[in-house]
Amino acid sequence: METGHFFNHKHLTSLADLSVEDFELVLLTARSFKEISSRSIKKVPTLRGRTVINLFFEPSTRTRLSFEIAAKRMSADTFNISASSSSAAKGETLVDTALNLQAMNPDMVIIRHSSSGAANLLKRHLQTSVINAGDGTHEHPSQGLLDMMTVIEHKGDLTGLKIAIIGDIAHSRVAHSDIIGFTRMGATVSVSGPATMVPLEVESLGAKVCLDPRDAVADADVVMALRIQRERLLDPLIPSLREYAAFFGVNESLLRLARPDALIMHPGPINRGVEIDPAIVDGPRSVILDQVTNGVAVRMALLYLLMGGE
Ligand code: CP
Repeated sequence: METGHFFNHKHLTSLADLSVEDFELVLLTARSFKEISSRSIKKVPTLRGRTVINLFFEPSTRTRLSFEIAAKRMSADTFNISASSSSAAKGETLVDTALNLQAMNPDMVIIRHSSSGAANLLKRHLQTSVINAGDGTHEHPSQGLLDMMTVIEHKGDLTGLKIAIIGDIAHSRVAHSDIIGFTRMGATVSVSGPATMVPLEVESLGAKVCLDPRDAVADADVVMALRIQRERLLDPLIPSLREYAAFFGVNESLLRLARPDALIMHPGPINRGVEIDPAIVDGPRSVILDQVTNGVAVRMALLYLLMGGE
C-alpha cells in the first residue's frame, strides 16, 4: 500500500483538520485492515506493547466496542473507564482525570463526552494522542470516516453523489462530521429536519438546507436518518414524536423520491418507527450494519496512523 502521503497528525478531534489526501490515506488503510476481521485468527502484532484508554463519559455501544476491538485486533492493550467508574464521580475535573491517565503513560486516549470541545481540551493539556469519539453536539470524526468508507464501498466514489441527511441536524455531531467529510470529498449534502433542529450555520459547513425533506431526498444516492436525541433536548423542539415521524420519518413514500439504488444509512442507535421505518432499516438498501462493520476497520486505521504508522 503506497500513497506517498504521510499522515502528519497526532490527534483527531475534527474532520476539518484533515485534507483530501488524509481522508484517502485513512480510507485506504482501513480497506487494507478490514480483511483482518474476516480471518479465523483476528489479530496482528502491529500495535503490540501500545496502551489505549477508552475514556467514555457517555453511553456507547458501537464506538466504544469498535475502538476496543480495533485496538485488540492490533494487539494493543486496552482499558475502559466510564464516568461512574472514574473519580469524576467524586468531583475530579476532566483535565485532572486526563493528566492522571497520562501519568501512567498510555499511547492513546479516546474520549466521549457530553461537552462540545472536551476532546480539544484534552488535546491542549496532554502529550498523549487524543481521539474524539463524540463530544456533545460538535463532532464524531471516526463516524464520519466510517460513513465515507461505507458509501465508497457501495458507490465506488463520493465525487458527484447527492447525500441527504434527515433529522436533528443541530444536535448531531455525526451530521457535522459527515457534512465536512462528504463535501470535502466532492459529494453534495442536503439536510432537512424541523426548523428548530436545522441551524442555518450548517450552510457554512457546505450543506444545503431544505425545509421540506422531499427536496433533500429527491434524486439522492444516499439517505441518512438521524436519531432524535431526547437526552439533549432541554426544551421540546418538536410537538411530538408521532408528528416528527409523519413529517420527517424516512419511510417508503419519502424514499420513492430518491434514486432506486439509494443507500439507506443511520449512525445508530435507532429509534425504530420514529426517524426511520423498521421495514427500511431491515430492507435491501440498508447498509446500517455495514457502517458498524466498517467502524472497526476505520478505527484500526486511525489507531495505526495516529500512533505513527506509515
Ligand atoms: N454511532 C454511535 O456513535 O453509536 P454509539 O453511541 O453506540 O457509540
